[in-house]
Amino acid sequence: MFQPKTIIEPFQIKSVEPLSLLTHSQRLQALKGAEFNLFKLRSNEVTIDLLTDSGTSAMSAEQWASLQRGDESYAGSRSFQEFHETIKNLTGYSHIIPTHQGRASEKIFFSVLADRRERTQRLNFIPNNSHFDTTRANAEAAGFEAVDFPCEEFFDFESDFPFKGNMNLKKLKSFLEQTPREQIPVGFITITNNTCGGQPVSFENLKSTAELYRKYQIPFYLDACRFAENVAFIRKYERPKDSAENIAKEIFRLADGCTFSAKKDAFANIGGFLATNDEDLLEDFTAALILTEGFPTYGGLAGRDLSVIAQGLREVLDESYLTYRLAVTEYMGDFLSRAKIPFLKPPGGHALYLDAKRIAPHLSWSDFPGQSLAIQLYLEAGIRSCEIGSVMFGRKPDGSESAHTSELVRLAIPRRVYTQSHMDYVLEAVDYVFKKRKELKPVKILKEPKRLRHFGASFFVASP
Ligand code: F0G
Repeated sequence: MFQPKTIIEPFQIKSVEPLSLLTHSQRLQALKGAEFNLFKLRSNEVTIDLLTDSGTSAMSAEQWASLQRGDESYAGSRSFQEFHETIKNLTGYSHIIPTHQGRASEKIFFSVLADRRERTQRLNFIPNNSHFDTTRANAEAAGFEAVDFPCEEFFDFESDFPFKGNMNLKKLKSFLEQTPREQIPVGFITITNNTCGGQPVSFENLKSTAELYRKYQIPFYLDACRFAENVAFIRKYERPKDSAENIAKEIFRLADGCTFSAKKDAFANIGGFLATNDEDLLEDFTAALILTEGFPTYGGLAGRDLSVIAQGLREVLDESYLTYRLAVTEYMGDFLSRAKIPFLKPPGGHALYLDAKRIAPHLSWSDFPGQSLAIQLYLEAGIRSCEIGSVMFGRKPDGSESAHTSELVRLAIPRRVYTQSHMDYVLEAVDYVFKKRKELKPVKILKEPKRLRHFGASFFVASP
């Protein structure tokens, strides 16, 4: 029997869009126009866009069809019923509120908690394996201190430990022991752990985290943006005999609710939701939702978006899709390992993270090696990536600046968008830039906004 070694893309292409192919001098011009901030490039100045996997998925034929079927009634639309039913079946949560994207869920969640907080002088904390930047920013904007407990294994970028997204249970336990319960309104875990390399959390670790939070009577929430990719890793390394759907259902049922961005594992270009079993919180969530997002049965989205999300969630746990999805980053990881290009091992679910600290040891953290590498990848090959290091996290809420623990460049892979030859082109470009790594130049920040500076900062590089 034919047993292929090649894992093929489990879809065919029905509609195509041309790629922009620019010259080196056009890209240099574009970079200058964007003040060396890749977020400020126009998409037609980019050849392969690996800035994010968020909102960039290719929709399936069924999703396009569901756009047409979308019901735009203001209240109680068929699309909402479909959305609600699908998510309820998957997660088991009692209350599901649509939002326009993940951070809108975070904003509502943390601002409602802040309003309910006891008005003491004492700080309130939100523990997590690692907060994503908008989650941290929303928690901090509501006056909480976001605290991260990444596992020890994460810090050894060369180890192949399969669950580097895990919560550090020892540290979480001692934090819960030492902090009065009323100072911890909720506890989170993020799956997969985007800030720590898109690394998954094991089922065992999720269960133990849930037990710890329960023991200390802390409500437990998931940041579940990439739950399906996390499930794929659990199947691969921990529970090969169980179906993806059953594992996903079990994970959601460990927690009291979740925040969710549908722009990742729901293959939607926009959307999200907030879900909870807490009847008491629901009233405040709904009131906050109506103020900024919309009526509870559409929450900042069109009816057709709700249908698209429901359809996407019915597709994402397909086992051939998940096998293919992990095969993409694994394929890229194999190449980088063979070429001895430092990256965070093992490859994550949605992205590869190049280790700019080791690629450009001649640059100090304040030369922003990640930004320098990202700029060079764009200049040489039109590939847009994203710095996740001291540009993104170096500025502290008190205004001080210090080195982030790592200087990474994320190559995020949009879902179902690029083929293997696109990835071969990316790898060839990374290899080329790596071979000329000694020429990577320091980057200066000329101007930066107060919060989330990576989005708006202007940079300068001398003769790139
Ligand atoms: N949580 C995680 C773990 C995320 O990765 C993101 C977004 C969010 C929350 C917020 O969701 O964008 O819908 O508001 N991550 C994107 C990224 C932006 O590029 O990793 P959102």
